[in-house]
Amino acid sequence: MPTAVSLFTGCGGSDSGLIDAGFDVLMANDITSYAKDLYNANLPETDYVLGDVAGVKAFPKADLLVGCYPCQGFSMGGVRDPNRKINYLYREFDRALRQVRPKAFIVENVAGMTRSGHLHLLRNQLIRFRSAGYRVEHKLLSAIDYGVPQERTRLFFVGIRSDLGQRYQFPEPTHSINLVDGTISCPTIRDAIGDLPLWPEGEYDTQPFHWYYLSRNRWRGWNEQARTVVANSRHVGLHPVSPPLERVHTDEWRFKYDGPARRLSYRETARLQGFKRDLQFPDTAGLKFKYQVVGNAVPPPLFRAVASALPNIW
Ligand SMILES: C[S@@+](CC[C@H](N)C(=O)[O-])C[C@H]1O[C@@H](n2cnc3c(N)ncnc32)[C@H](O)[C@@H]1O
Repeated sequence: MPTAVSLFTGCGGSDSGLIDAGFDVLMANDITSYAKDLYNANLPETDYVLGDVAGVKAFPKADLLVGCYPCQGFSMGGVRDPNRKINYLYREFDRALRQVRPKAFIVENVAGMTRSGHLHLLRNQLIRFRSAGYRVEHKLLSAIDYGVPQERTRLFFVGIRSDLGQRYQFPEPTHSINLVDGTISCPTIRDAIGDLPLWPEGEYDTQPFHWYYLSRNRWRGWNEQARTVVANSRHVGLHPVSPPLERVHTDEWRFKYDGPARRLSYRETARLQGFKRDLQFPDTAGLKFKYQVVGNAVPPPLFRAVASALPNIW
């Protein structure tokens, strides 16, 4: 079984995909304690080190290194300041890469890194990874194309150590759009959450729908795919049981009719990210953290597809 070290591990979206692809995760690291709690409740085999990655001085030897550094600085929905310190955590990944010297690495980040103001950061990363001795490919991938019932586009870098003489090819979509009738052969919101209770008390954010919430269409129907699952519970999309929204003006939406409305629950967002259906949520933190770690995660089926496409270099 090939081995992996995982950095910026979060609650284990990427690692669940890795494990499904046949990897043994030797070590994981993250600074958020609830991310570790959720991970340990579901993937207890991994040695999960809690703390700032900068404090991890030695990493175990492994075949694969994985890292999904934080994305607030690049996120389409977050603060887009290219000078923020958080945008430079890739240097920690680079440090681990040079120490571990794995046969391959995978990095995931938000699509915002391909925006013009951030291109220098994208180039810096490519230069660093190449100078560390890797042949690197990068591509934006859409989670829907790999069977995740959610609109979510993410940037992936995959590198293979140059001495192995191999080049990585990104996987072809497994769930595509039918160009004749426009249908998508991807699971729907109903497939993902249709069996869950309609009003799971205590599992969803009940804050009012303020003007910012109603500045865009947060609703999707049962037979559609969900909007991007976000980490901030206040901004999470509406459950399809809620009345649909209609546009009033630019950046102003309202409910089409009166009726009870609610956000998706944290458990539903995990399903829409493609986590296993019986994911366990320990009660060591409140709603906010449950939504946060799930919204930050890489959809496991997407990460599994990327890891499974690595050539057999083990
Ligand atoms: C995009 S999320 C990772 C998601 C994860 N790969 C998954 O699939 O669940 C980025 C993670 O980086 C972590 N992080 C931020 N700063 C860190 C630091 N200095 N050291 C370690 N982890 C850090 C955050 O807590 C967050 O969980």
